[in-house]
Amino acid sequence: MRMYDIIEKKRNGEKLSSEEIKFFIDGYTNGAIPDYQISALLMAIYFQDMTEAERADLTMAMVESGDQIDLSAIEGFKVDKHSTGGVGDTTTLILAPLVASLDVPLAKMSGRGLGHTGGTIDKLESVKGFHVEISNEEFISLVNENKVAVIGQSGNLTPADKKLYSLRDVTATVNSIPLIASSIMSKKIASGADGIVLDVKTGAGAFMKDLDEAKELAHAMVSIGNRVGRNTMAVISDMSQPLGFAIGNALEVREAIDTLKGNGPADLTELCITLGSQMVVLAGKAQNIEEARNMLRENLTNGKALAKFKQFLESQGGDARVADNPELLPQAPYKTELPAKSSGKIEKMIADELGTAAMMLGAGRATKESEIDLSVGLVLHKKVGDTVNAGESILTIHSNQENVDEVIDKLYQSISITQGKAEAPSLIYTTINE
Ligand code: URA
Ligand code: CA
Repeated sequence: MRMYDIIEKKRNGEKLSSEEIKFFIDGYTNGAIPDYQISALLMAIYFQDMTEAERADLTMAMVESGDQIDLSAIEGFKVDKHSTGGVGDTTTLILAPLVASLDVPLAKMSGRGLGHTGGTIDKLESVKGFHVEISNEEFISLVNENKVAVIGQSGNLTPADKKLYSLRDVTATVNSIPLIASSIMSKKIASGADGIVLDVKTGAGAFMKDLDEAKELAHAMVSIGNRVGRNTMAVISDMSQPLGFAIGNALEVREAIDTLKGNGPADLTELCITLGSQMVVLAGKAQNIEEARNMLRENLTNGKALAKFKQFLESQGGDARVADNPELLPQAPYKTELPAKSSGKIEKMIADELGTAAMMLGAGRATKESEIDLSVGLVLHKKVGDTVNAGESILTIHSNQENVDEVIDKLYQSISITQGKAEAPSLIYTTINE
């Protein structure tokens, strides 16, 4: 087989065989095929697209390029959840103990945050003592015992995806549905779950800014999952404004605790119940979505989800007292209110811009090596569609320095107030099963 012929075939819009796809992925991973040939192929894929069968083959070739996590020692149907990334997205912190409280095993492999979106591991590490550096054996035994555990990403998971993603980044080929879908799904499939619930975000803070693109990506990922034998479905949810009220690591943990007590923001709670109900049904613990939703709502109010959260924190070395005393979490020394400049309704709160403001405070990483400050961030008091009076606080800035003028400028540019009509956006757009 020659790489030249594979590039030419895709350039001409033909379908690549499983063998051809495996050949270029293996060759690229082991260094036999150079960047320039893969770059040309990526650009051909960008323009010519891939069939559903090609996408599934590409995903599996990437899965097989590195380690695969074997979760077969965990009893029951393992469900994983993946979000395409959002601002202030605290759902995993809530969903993990919530679905585990209904005996759905959640073996979660997670990452750190980069850019304006936060990572679940960073958030959890704001709980003193909590750590994800555990062995695979410990991970599996914790899930069997408690139904929930979180482990850091294995170093050798989908090495082909790591190389391809870096190359896409510098060849203007990131934004391609077959390449994004196979990249995300390869990591999920290598992580070993039997079922996958995807939360595909749409809106200003999301990878897919418009709804049609988000639907197309969701459909592509669901099709890959189901073709390779993992029961997969997707929910498309709003990320035009941040989710919930808190943006920032410890602030989001506090918000997760409130939600696990049944006192969380309405949008965050609803998204958790929507995603959680799909997970519970996939795992066979409820007959239908309505029944699953009721079970989840009940555990948010009867203390079972919160008790599971404490057990989960403790099992990985964390100080579980934070669940009852959130003031034990890291706290920023300075708090500054952002007053509304006029009266009216909040028209826009651009999610990625608010994420960037939180990053400027030190909540997020500009590069992989940046240190982050777990205590800082933003807490919203208003969301899109809410009424606000001039001078009333829109949000509180939590910072480690007194002067936050630059962040204030950024926030005023990202939030608009109208004297006309403004309505809250829909939270859940649609569910995709095939
Ligand atoms: N996230 C990924 O993991 N891969 C992509 O290609 C895009 C977003
Ligand atoms: Ca939030």
